[in-house]
This record gives sequence, structure tokens and C-alpha cells, in this order.
Amino acid sequence: MEYEASVFQVFPEPQPDGILQLTQDFRADPREGKIDLGVGVFRDDSGATPIMAAVREAEGRLLATRETKAYIGLLGDVAFAEAITDLALGAALAGSDRLANIQTPGGTGALRLGFDLIVSARPEATVWVPGPTWLNHIPLITRAGLKHKVYPYYDAATGAVDFEAMAEAVAAIPAGDVILLHGCCHNPSGADLDLEQWRQIAAMLTSGGVVAFVDMAYQGFGDGPDPDAAGLRTIFSALPEALMSYSCSKSFGLYRERTGLLTVQCETARDRTHALGQMKLLARTSHSMPPDHGAAVVSTILRDDALRADWLAELDGARLRVVSLRSALAEAFGAAGFGDRFDFLKDNKGMFSLLGIGADAVARLRKRYGVYMPASGRINIAGLQAQQVSRLVEAISDCLEMEPVK
Ligand SMILES: Cc1ncc(COP(=O)(O)O)c(C=O)c1O
Repeated sequence: MEYEASVFQVFPEPQPDGILQLTQDFRADPREGKIDLGVGVFRDDSGATPIMAAVREAEGRLLATRETKAYIGLLGDVAFAEAITDLALGAALAGSDRLANIQTPGGTGALRLGFDLIVSARPEATVWVPGPTWLNHIPLITRAGLKHKVYPYYDAATGAVDFEAMAEAVAAIPAGDVILLHGCCHNPSGADLDLEQWRQIAAMLTSGGVVAFVDMAYQGFGDGPDPDAAGLRTIFSALPEALMSYSCSKSFGLYRERTGLLTVQCETARDRTHALGQMKLLARTSHSMPPDHGAAVVSTILRDDALRADWLAELDGARLRVVSLRSALAEAFGAAGFGDRFDFLKDNKGMFSLLGIGADAVARLRKRYGVYMPASGRINIAGLQAQQVSRLVEAISDCLEMEPVK
């Protein structure tokens, strides 16, 4: 008898994932001196993505003391949630009885659960995202069943936020819609709001009745853990209702441990209890219980003074590495005759910047020099080793195929 169901014949041919393909192509490239500025993980100056010392120490302690692998609850590790809200929001806001917390599989899991929660509350809401935004934001919003619109954010001419255009668009967002904001170290541009701009945006959202969803994936990589959280804290102080997705992937180097948190600030303590019930239900029908290990590592570190100090010092070292590469790059571009064209690199925050070069130049860089980046020209600064800066600038000069400005 012939099999007639053919359920799985409907899918289109899969398209290669751009960034993963780029990594594979880089690995297969035999040239010495090749440079990978693609995938978004932190690298040290030898090109490694190390396990942080405080993480290793916490893992050792957990290995010695953990007595069970029984499920943790649907909300995950409550001590982890307290430690992260304290780190991100600060003690005053974190102590509120209006916060509903649930541990999630990574920052991505927090975003998805947050969008699912918005769908259950207000399916007609539109989520406003910055132009451009992290490649996974719009697919996450769409898969959850929500509409999205883009608000102007990055100005390629200056390498900074086009605040005037952003503010005009934000002021016009209808009440009940949701705005997605990058807490710090905007991915892909590295262009962040300053505190005064955060205040203005928070005031507009409050008077406009817009719900803010702040994606916090790089705390500590911009100016340090507290300054990086200033915008998030401004939003949570001003708005009665707001969400935060938190990722421990970069700040604790726990990428594969899938460690994240969704925090929902509600208007009242009663709303919080009900929202938490809904969040549990949503989690139960997607991943159910979150993984334990990464969250246990994070809460062990954050609740032990010595481990916390160690972690902060290592995170600061990672941040300073990126800051010094940014300065070195901007200086080398200046010395190569580009004037101030690439000065924005030293003002941008975090691991990413948009070089502002065309896809042709990106392709030439790869072909001639083994320099890999996505066609958008987004670079992961941490992919660079200090001794490669001048070679990279020479390569870019050559591939732009124009006379540098004198
Ligand atoms: C802006 C942004 N949000 C969220 C995430 C999600 O991180 P993860 O799910 O790995 O914790 C990333 C990761 O690259 C990101 O860049």
C-alpha cells in the first residue's frame, strides 16, 4: 500500500543560516592570518572563548554539593531570579512586589515567553523594534503571533542613534503597543542612548501608555554593570508595566548553558500574581522546567562576595579589551587617511558595530584577505586580536577601492 500522508513534504528547501555558514566557511579557509569578525561570542586575545574563573569555581562547588537532579519548579531557581533582578534593576526596584520572574532557556527563551505573554494579554498589539535590530527579534515576534513595526534608530551617517527621528516615532506609538529596546550595547550597531535620552523616551512611553520590553543581553560590556543598566532602571522606575529579558550568555560566558530570566513588572501586586500564573502555564506548554546548571552557577557567584568580585574583575577585563580594540581601530583608520570616518567605532558600546561598508567590499575582504563578516558589515570587535588591527585596516582600505580621504 502506498503511503499517502506526506506530512513533511510541504517545507521549502532550507536556506543556510548566514552567520553559521560564515563560521563554517571561516573554519574551512586554510589561509594563515584569516580573521573572523562574524559570530557574536566574546573572544580573548588568543581567539578563545574561555570559561570564566568564577564560573569554574562555582561549578566545582556545585559538583561537590549537588545531591539531586530532580526537577526544579516551573519558575526555576528563585535565588537566581533574585540575584539577577538585583544586578540588573538594582536593589530598590528588585524588591518590588510587582515583579513576576521566571527563569528561561537563555535570553531567547525570555524573549519568546515575553512575547507569548503579550499575545495572551493583547493579541492585537504591535511590537515596535529598532531599525536595525538583532536578527532573531522579528522572527521571535512573528512566531509568537504578533505584528511588528520598525522605529528609526541607527544613523549610518554618524554611527550613532538618530534620536530626533526615534523620539518622533516613539511619540506616535499607539497606547497598548509594545516597544522593544536594547538595554545596552545595541546589536548590531553598538549605538546606545545616553541617560538623558532614556529619560525622554521613558517619559514619552509613560504618557503614551506604551509597554516597554527591554532586552538585556550584554550587561557589563559597555561602561560596566551599573552604567549599562541605567536605561533599564529608568524605564522600570517610570513605567507601571514593563518587561525585561535577561541573558547570562555573554556576561557570564554561559552561552551553551542556556541561562536567562524574564521579569515582568505589573501595575499591582494582584496583577503580578495572575501574570505569574500565566507565565507558568506558558512555560509548561513550551519547555516546562528550565535547565538548572547555569542558573545555579550564576546565583552561586552573585551571592558569594569573593566569587562576585572575581567575576566582576574578569568581566571588566573583557570590556576593557573591547574598548581598547575600538580605540586602536579608530586610530588606525585615522592614520590610514580616513579622517574621522571611523571615529564612531570608539564611541559605540559592546562587541558590535556596523562598519558601513557595502556588501561588495565585504565580499572582497573575504576573498582577498580571509576577513569574514556578514554582508551587513556588522563586526564583532572581540573577534579581533590586537596585533591584527593594522592588517585589518589595510585590508579594508584596499577593499573599499577608493582613495582614502586625506
Ligand atoms: C540582542 C540580543 N538579545 C538576546 C540574545 C539571546 O541570547 P541567548 O539566547 O544566547 O541567551 C542575543 C544573543 O546574541 C542578543 O544579541
